[in-house]
Parts: sequence; C-alpha cells; structure tokens
Amino acid sequence: MTPAEVIWHDIECGAYEEDLPLWRMLAREHGDPILEIGAGTGRVSLDLVGRGHDVTALDSDAELLTELAVRAAGTTLQTAVADARSFTLGRRFALCLVPMQAIQLFGAVEGRAAFLRCARAHLLPGGVLAAALTEVVEAYAVVDGARGWAGPLPDIRELDGVVYASRPTAVRDEGEVFLIERLREIVDAHGRREVQENRVALQRVSAAELEREGRRAGLRPLPRARIPATADYVGSEVVMLGA
Ligand SMILES: C[S@@+](CC[C@H](N)C(=O)[O-])C[C@H]1O[C@@H](n2cnc3c(N)ncnc32)[C@H](O)[C@@H]1O
Repeated sequence: MTPAEVIWHDIECGAYEEDLPLWRMLAREHGDPILEIGAGTGRVSLDLVGRGHDVTALDSDAELLTELAVRAAGTTLQTAVADARSFTLGRRFALCLVPMQAIQLFGAVEGRAAFLRCARAHLLPGGVLAAALTEVVEAYAVVDGARGWAGPLPDIRELDGVVYASRPTAVRDEGEVFLIERLREIVDAHGRREVQENRVALQRVSAAELEREGRRAGLRPLPRARIPATADYVGSEVVMLGA
C-alpha cells in the first residue's frame, strides 16, 4: 500500500512544473553528475534522468525515496537517504539543485550554514549550487463561510476508491518563519471522512542573505535566476553559488 506521506507529497508537490525549464537548462549548461537535495518522490530528478542525466536524489525521508527508487527502476538514478545538513556521499557533482524552497526547511542560519558546507564539499571545481527561495509570501487565512469555501481550490486525487484532498487554508507571517497551513481530508469508499491539519514552517531568508551565507561557506554568488509565479504557486528567486 502506498504510504500516506507519499500520497500527500504527490498531491501537494507533484503538479508543479513551472521550474522544470530552469533545472533542465542548468543541467544542459553545467552537465553531470547532478545532485538534487530534498528530492521527495522525484518530480525534478525523474525529469532530468529521463533526459539522460546522471542524477543522485537525496532526501531525509526514507519513505519518499523508497517510492522514488521504485519509480526510477531501470534508470541510472541513485538515491541517498540523508539529512541535507550532514551528508557524505563520497562523490562530487557539477550541479547541486535545491528546488521548491527546500532550503527554507533546513532550519535557520545554522541549519543553512551546515547545508552550505556539505554542498560545497560535494561540488566539483567550477560546480554550481542553485537554490529556489520564496522571499515574500502573502499572509492570508481562509474561513469556511455560509456560502461555502472561499479559499484556493484543493488538490485532489483518488486512489483505490479513496479520495484525498488537500487545501491551503492559511499562510501566517510569524516573523522568522512563514507557517503554511493545509487541511488534508480523506474520504473512503464508505463515505467516512477524516480531516487532518498540516503545518509547514518555511524559514524567511532573502537571496542577499543566502548569498552572504554562501560566501562564508566558500561559495561565490553568480547571477540569480527567477521562476515565475503561476495561479497556484508563488514565484521564486533562484540563488546561484559557484564553487
Ligand atoms: C517541498 S518538497 C520538494 C520535493 C521535490 N524537490 C520537488 O521539487 O518536488 C521538500 C523536500 O525536502 C525534504 N527535506 C526537508 N528537510 C530536509 C533535510 N533536512 N534534509 C533532506 N531533505 C529534507 C522533504 O522530505 C521533502 O521531500
């Protein structure tokens, strides 16, 4: 049976495509091998492997990577279960990608510093680290009104007769972090309904701050890139740091 964590990850991250052209372009420009940090079930890694790249996908969540290994069967993709702040792969990479604001999940300045040191140690000379950042997220909170749901539409999937729906309910500005809140609902084949609250804390960090932190880890800031916003996803500034 598919673990719930995999289902929610696919529902909440799997449909995002706006950043793929940038990762593909960087992969062509910088070549292999490529390391994706916080790869999840492989939205980006599988796309790059499908284009012939040599990719290692790292994530701290073993369930997500087990699922990724199944999806990558028959390809050259390698997986590594490890924390982004303390990993040793015994290999260096031409390109290290951190898509979808994963770098904002590694804790505050000390967490990012530990990650940047690890990433620096895994880059080949001339190698590049590219990390997508959400600098500003508009705070909001949705309440169910008399006329029904007024917030963003839920992401929905049906699997073996069970319906999974995840709807964003609030983004709260908590100073150092943005709290992103979702309601996850499961309706089984008998109509039984289960509702869970889910919260993710995204560290607030600007591109300029991350570049300063990169310098302290021995990396050199390069021109930034941008990923445009879509109707469903905020845009990102992509910090590029060279070894
Ligand atoms: C927003 S998801 C992005 C998944 C994938 N890169 C994508 O773009 O679809 C963030 C991922 O980072 C992983 N993650 C969070 N903290 C981590 C850490 N300290 N070390 C490694 N991975 C981490 C999570 O398990 C999750 O799979």
